[in-house]
Amino acid sequence: MTAEKKQLDWGSLGFSYIKTDYRFRARWSEGHWQPGELVDSEIMEVHEGSPVLHYAQACFEGLKAQTSPDGRILLFRPELNCQRMAQTAERLVMPEVPEALFMQGITECIRANKAWVPPSGSGASLYVRPFLIGLGENLGLRPAPEYEFRVFVAPVGPYYKSGGLSLISLAVTDVDRAAPKGTGRFKAGANYAGGLMATQLANQLGANEALYLDAGERRFLEEAGSANIFLVMKNGKFVVPESESILPGVTRRSILTLAEDRLGLEVERRPVDLRNEIENIDEFGACGTAAVISPVGKVFIDEHWHHFFGDGEEIGPVTEQLYDVLTRLQKGEEPDSYGWTIEV
Ligand code: PLP
Ligand code: COI
Repeated sequence: MTAEKKQLDWGSLGFSYIKTDYRFRARWSEGHWQPGELVDSEIMEVHEGSPVLHYAQACFEGLKAQTSPDGRILLFRPELNCQRMAQTAERLVMPEVPEALFMQGITECIRANKAWVPPSGSGASLYVRPFLIGLGENLGLRPAPEYEFRVFVAPVGPYYKSGGLSLISLAVTDVDRAAPKGTGRFKAGANYAGGLMATQLANQLGANEALYLDAGERRFLEEAGSANIFLVMKNGKFVVPESESILPGVTRRSILTLAEDRLGLEVERRPVDLRNEIENIDEFGACGTAAVISPVGKVFIDEHWHHFFGDGEEIGPVTEQLYDVLTRLQKGEEPDSYGWTIEV
């Protein structure tokens, strides 16, 4: 396991898979987790009858490791990813990955791939992808007899092509993401397969990503295909849409705290009837691990583009400040008074 940094052009990385040296895996069978291990092959051999292949018994998480200016490798609130994976596993009738195993998996995998962790100031991060899948022979619709928890990592740059803190656009299409009592608030792989078409339609309209309204009435703002939404209203309030079918994002939860504590804003979590409120929105933003904080310049809805702050061509001050505070904390560039970062 060499710790010498890989010679990558860190600043020009996009968000794609790069094969790193090691991945972590642990198997569950007959009611127990077996000890986990690091392996070097990225190829998995699975039974053709596995429920993950047919019935999408699969879930995942996403978090980032970053290097601080003094050389520490930091994770941001990983216990929240572990809790969310446990909730998703329960919803998909899969065994919970205990916190000790989850943390062992991500820390061992990051340490073993230290050479791939982007240096401080490079603009890149190490994306960590834990996932859990149902394996073994199973034709009928039943939970799998075996599971694998696996973690791989890849150095990444910005998620959207525009890169860094730059404007993106979203489009509301005819395709829904999640039903009220469905799996929308869990990180089930199937949610993302169901969203591919919306993303494709959004891309055809020239948008970076799909924006979803609630599937019941198609009125209330839900989230984007790969990120949550936040709004700064013209009255200065900071609002995040409330819904039982959106992913409870770690980033969203964190910026709610930062908007209140650090920016002194009044915050609200409530349903947002998009068409009724669109004229009152000053800044529209997307937030998530991969998306970080992405200002949304314009949204396509009801056959036209609606522009936000600065005619959709400027980044609003709240979005910019939140980006600064959040990313400085995540990168260890300022003291973490919240205890959100942990050293690997
Ligand atoms: N919503 C969706 C659909 C996502 O895929 C993500 C990304 O993980 C988020 C929201 C944001 O969640 P988090 O901030 O925990 O990454
Ligand atoms: C993340 O932000 O970690 C996600 O899982 C989004 C994914 C679609 C890349």
